[in-house]
Amino acid sequence: MYTHVYSINDPMARAEAGRVILNGGLVAFATETVYGLGGDATNEMAVAKIFAYKARPLYNPLISHVHDARSAFAIGQATSAALAMADVFWPGPLTLVMKLMDGFPLACLTSANMDTVAIRVPGDPTTRALLSEIGRPIAAPSANRSGRLSPTTADHVIAEGFDGLKIILDGGCCMLGVESTVLDVSSGIPRLLRPGAVTQEQIEEVVGPIKLASDNARLLSPGMLASHYAPIASLRLNATELWDGEVGLDFAGQLGADMDLSSLGDLLEAASNLFAYLRTLDLPGIKTIAVAPIPRRGLGVAINDRLQRAAV
Ligand code: TXA
Ligand code: MG
Repeated sequence: MYTHVYSINDPMARAEAGRVILNGGLVAFATETVYGLGGDATNEMAVAKIFAYKARPLYNPLISHVHDARSAFAIGQATSAALAMADVFWPGPLTLVMKLMDGFPLACLTSANMDTVAIRVPGDPTTRALLSEIGRPIAAPSANRSGRLSPTTADHVIAEGFDGLKIILDGGCCMLGVESTVLDVSSGIPRLLRPGAVTQEQIEEVVGPIKLASDNARLLSPGMLASHYAPIASLRLNATELWDGEVGLDFAGQLGADMDLSSLGDLLEAASNLFAYLRTLDLPGIKTIAVAPIPRRGLGVAINDRLQRAAV
């Protein structure tokens, strides 16, 4: 079946997308981080469809997207850390894991049957317009098949070839290009489960010292599988020169390669280019992509995290 690509700025298109979702269908839509594959988070069948489309393991729970903090705290139990974080970083690229509110009719599959729920209020106003029109939490993982690169354009979503996906709401290139920071604020000291655009330093300014995802993070956040975002070619990280037969993915001109995530060394620009450039270089015949070192500060932490997962 044919996939319609509409601008997410078009209110008629958003209304149609809303109808599809309320009827249990799926819609791919732009956010400021990556494109999501969304369905009604309270509809077990709709969420099952998301898992099937992505071939995603059922034990890996999804993020529920809502248009404001008030809606978020109707689903997740607010702790003082949750409130403080929401106040500073919502709307934005931050996902908070909270205890699920008693009686909230979230589909069991959305939270993989756990007693916690991951919630985020996206930064892009048109994404929030879509969510507020629908009036229900939208479960949306990145709109790619499980274990593959996250899409940062509508074309990337089309390339995944989701059979029967009716609508993509196109918002152009995602501004940030890496997925949201996931922080567990369900109890005790907050724990960083996935690095993202909101950095550890920024979080600690608000809630004080936090815990980092350790080796048992797989249990805490099942999505943190070591191998993730894998392109087909292999990656050689922290390359300081190009070897025979390699193509280069550069940063700040260190390798002299044509593809440079940011020739000026801007980490924000590099993050927004990351997944698109990896896709471009991931061609048949290319065995190894050599990636220049990227500083591990600010957004560089999330970029290095995604590169490491892609390299496994
Ligand atoms: O930027 C983003 O977050 C994108 C856009 C579409 O919003 N979404 C996204 O979703 O990256 P996904 O499903 O690819 O990643 C969700 C992450 C996974 O690592 C998952 O394990 C974790 O959030 N997660 C979800 N619910 C959780 C929970 N209850 N406890 C711990 N981790 C959870
Ligand atoms: Mg994903």
